[in-house]
Amino acid sequence: MPLKQFIETMLPEIEKELQSQVDRLKQNNSHPFHEMLTYHMGWTGEGAGPEAAGKRIRPLMVLLAAASCGADWRLALPAAAAVELVHNFSLVHDDVQDNSDKRRGRPTVWTKWGVPMAINVGDALFVIANQSILDLGKALPASTVVRATAILNDTCLELTRGQFMDMSYEQHSDLKIEDYWPMIGGKTSALLSACTHIGALVGGADEAGQENYRSFGYRLGLAFQVQDDVLGIWGDEAVTGKSAASDLVEGKNSLPVLFALEKNGAFAKRWKQGPIRAEEVKEVAVLLESEGAKTYAVEMSQQETEKALGFLEGANPQGEAGEALLELANMLLKRKQ
Ligand code: IPE
Ligand code: IPE
Ligand code: MG
Ligand code: MG
Repeated sequence: MPLKQFIETMLPEIEKELQSQVDRLKQNNSHPFHEMLTYHMGWTGEGAGPEAAGKRIRPLMVLLAAASCGADWRLALPAAAAVELVHNFSLVHDDVQDNSDKRRGRPTVWTKWGVPMAINVGDALFVIANQSILDLGKALPASTVVRATAILNDTCLELTRGQFMDMSYEQHSDLKIEDYWPMIGGKTSALLSACTHIGALVGGADEAGQENYRSFGYRLGLAFQVQDDVLGIWGDEAVTGKSAASDLVEGKNSLPVLFALEKNGAFAKRWKQGPIRAEEVKEVAVLLESEGAKTYAVEMSQQETEKALGFLEGANPQGEAGEALLELANMLLKRKQ
């Protein structure tokens, strides 16, 4: 069964699990609060629908990893929901931190209800993620649940460390490419590695197998973030659903920017003069591209994907789900969204 068919089978189950987890908030007088969460998840409000829900690649990775270890992927649904909820908690807070007004083609939670409410919405999603993973215990031994919960919590700490670095970097203009990898390792790869790691754990892989799955997810996460950086500068706003100007205007030290800073040409000169204005973004993006920053980033994303695939091979994933994981890795590299 190709990836497309797995997605068609798994996605409705993922949405069902996510909705029942978020419904924990459906209690007396919490209706408007519940709606803030369902808005962000893409289920309610103006523009609701699959586009507003995002790609759901993290839960898909959990389920495919579990299936490729020979297990029934349905056992992993609470973990799949948990990682997607952690991801969404981080997005709600990230949009505040990055001053981003658009996400998945719609106004962000903080632009609709204000920053204090957005903090609270993110907090709720984070707590529900932790409640969700405990539901693994309905079908699996307590030792597996404890291990999965520990992986998820270590991941969240890593994620906040990565976000700390990302934000602190905005104040620096002397960063090197080598500073970049630990930052994205925290903010993005930690969660992607948790997806494949927890999937393999639930699937019954041994320690060595889990380690290969974990490394596969980690490398894929690096490739994924580099690609996100490329799309953040040269992507089509209508497709990414995020503002194309914001990474440069916010002064994000993305990989293309760090590459050009090390080259120390015309881009570096402009960058050091102070914040890029919105009306300059197009011109600056052209300059960056002409200095080879886009080609370099695309190449790095390809290299990390190849490393990821090496770990996947080492994990010896079984059956059609194993093939689908390989397909997913290659698809992410070509994504425009
Ligand atoms: C966006 O992740 C944030 C990053 C870690 C780059 P996704 O591109 O997976 O976002 P959605 O969930 O599909 O919107
Ligand atoms: C990605 O952050 C990681 C987290 C949200 C934790 P970015 O700021 O790079 O991602 P986008 O581009 O806003 O989705
Ligand atoms: Mg960010
Ligand atoms: Mg952001």
